[in-house]
Amino acid sequence: TTVSMDTIVSLAKRRGFVFPSSEIYGGWSAFWDYGPVGVEMKKNIKKAWWHDVVQIRHDVVGIDAATIMHPLVWKASGHLENFNDLMVDCRNCKQRFRADHLPGYEENKRAGKENPIEGLSCPNCGSKDLTPPRPFNTMFKTFVGPVENEAAVAYLRPETAQAIFVQFSNVLMTSRKKLPFGIAQIGRAYRNEITPGNFIFRSREFEQMELEYFVRPGEDDKWYDYWRNFAIDWFVSLGVSRERLRLKEHAKEDLSHYSKATTDLEYLYPFGWNELWGIANRTDYDLKAHMAVSGQQLTYYDEETKSHIVPYVIEPSLGVDRSFLVFLLDAYHEEPDNEGTRVVLRFHPRIAPVKVAVLPLSRKEPLIKIAWEIRDRLADVYVTDYDETGSIGRRYRRQDEIGTPYCVTVDFQTLEDNAVTIRDRDTMQQDRVSISELESVLKDKLGF
Ligand code: GAP
Repeated sequence: TTVSMDTIVSLAKRRGFVFPSSEIYGGWSAFWDYGPVGVEMKKNIKKAWWHDVVQIRHDVVGIDAATIMHPLVWKASGHLENFNDLMVDCRNCKQRFRADHLPGYEENKRAGKENPIEGLSCPNCGSKDLTPPRPFNTMFKTFVGPVENEAAVAYLRPETAQAIFVQFSNVLMTSRKKLPFGIAQIGRAYRNEITPGNFIFRSREFEQMELEYFVRPGEDDKWYDYWRNFAIDWFVSLGVSRERLRLKEHAKEDLSHYSKATTDLEYLYPFGWNELWGIANRTDYDLKAHMAVSGQQLTYYDEETKSHIVPYVIEPSLGVDRSFLVFLLDAYHEEPDNEGTRVVLRFHPRIAPVKVAVLPLSRKEPLIKIAWEIRDRLADVYVTDYDETGSIGRRYRRQDEIGTPYCVTVDFQTLEDNAVTIRDRDTMQQDRVSISELESVLKDKLGF
């Protein structure tokens, strides 16, 4: 089903996935909070990524670094100089935009126009009275220590990647990995985006799941290909529609300051094709830059050639929040049913925030007692829900709306046969299963 952003934003709030930050104060400019259901789903996304990219691979290890790093990191990485967006102000309505978000900007640039905003108009009020584009560094500044002067300025990291480069030698020494190998990190990043928007697609505080995969120079093209394919396969393996995913290679003139080649894994959002996961060939740019500024060695001793080399790096960089949005959008389905419309989120079981809901058919004491016993046993293994309020149909619908794969219903027959029904979210079929076999049946159905 193609779903509008408004529908998703309101479902996300109504069901406890995502709330506007500081909502009682009117919300707060492109920051978002994850609710009780959202926090479980976000954890599942990170867990799935870590499992597939780090845990099961012998060639990848992880780190978890501080988010405020030495300011020289950002000088070496080029972020102080280059991490700029081109900003344009509308003189009429006083709104500010990223130049490359103005309709027609890309066409102008491709046509080689000297002034790339020539003839463009403000997306807000339509006025053509725009200031010339000027650079705006999107790193958040803060002060470290008791004195608020220039020397105390530090930055909130705009990407997790740099900590991986800076800790390259420590990780190499302690993990004793051989090329090719990767270092992964999941963590927060901050960008003072000029035009955030589209819900959690582009916000000012978000989480990244980044891998820096170090390879021998000359083997970089091969690994670049490998990680591009990995990216698309990963989302397909978690149930995202193949036809809504595509790989898009950046044109040479659009590459970031560090990149030899970049591909975006794009998703077809309600607002069109856009980036989900960036895969870049960063060459030896970062390690060399940090060596130059720090004066330290960030090299690898190659047994084959008996020499110290600076590896090349392939970087698959994925947003947690953007993945969250994609899983939500892609899972959303509306189906006609006898009560009108059934809204169901068809999450892959690994992504679903709640795996099992336990529902006693009535609030009569013997049923509730058995239901709680089942709930407590399952809760040790899975995130569960327990719900005894409202009609059973309404309760199934509530679980459908948060994408719970299975509902376990305790009914009056349970008192006689020691069995319950398992109701499947997608087929709505109900199977009768003896309570003693419930855990192993659920394990088979969920796959874990
Ligand atoms: N280390 C490379 C790097 O940070 P990027 O393309 O700027 O590359 C990587 O960011 C990923 O991080 C994006 O593909 C996206 O998933 C996520 N991301 C970037 N900016 C974001 C923002 N403002 N809000 C949410 N996610 C963002």
